Amino acid sequence: MIKNLILIGFMGAGKTSVGQALAEKTGWPLLDTDQLIEEEAGMPITRIFEEQGEAAFRVTETRVLRRLLEKTEQAVISAGGGLPLREENRKLLAKLGTAVFLQVKPETVIVRLKGDTTRPLLLGDHVEERVETLLSYRNPIYQASAAFTVDVDEKDVSRIAEEILTEAGI
Ligand code: S3P
Repeated sequence: MIKNLILIGFMGAGKTSVGQALAEKTGWPLLDTDQLIEEEAGMPITRIFEEQGEAAFRVTETRVLRRLLEKTEQAVISAGGGLPLREENRKLLAKLGTAVFLQVKPETVIVRLKGDTTRPLLLGDHVEERVETLLSYRNPIYQASAAFTVDVDEKDVSRIAEEILTEAGI
């Protein structure tokens, strides 16, 4: 039996909206690692980055993942965009369930996240360059961490969710 469906991929790939569609279709709850971290820290992610730095945030991601592993079955889990970067987290993801990589083009990310102030890594100048650099570094990592990949550009959320369920055999 499949344990959990985990959505991984870059900011703006649609992990939350596809997660909602999957939760509706399966009847499974939707959990979001960013939200769990914000609840635990009692502050938004931007403030965690400001006050504690990215490294501390990454340690909290691992803690949240470990906790999910102890008690979560049959859930849809939306993982923060940087979560698969730590090797430790990739091992935990493999145990937690089927990870699906939502692959997105840089131009889609830029359109979707224009004006967004909730992603500390995309604040400031040269956002386009930064998205391209981060994506080319991260895409092979996402790919290696996932059971399969779904391209999301120009597809509606419901179709992406259907593709995932078919591919995962759910
Ligand atoms: C991050 C992605 C964000 C959040 C944090 C860092 C990243 O999550 O965890 O801002 O490093 O890509 P989303 O992918 O849900 O936006």
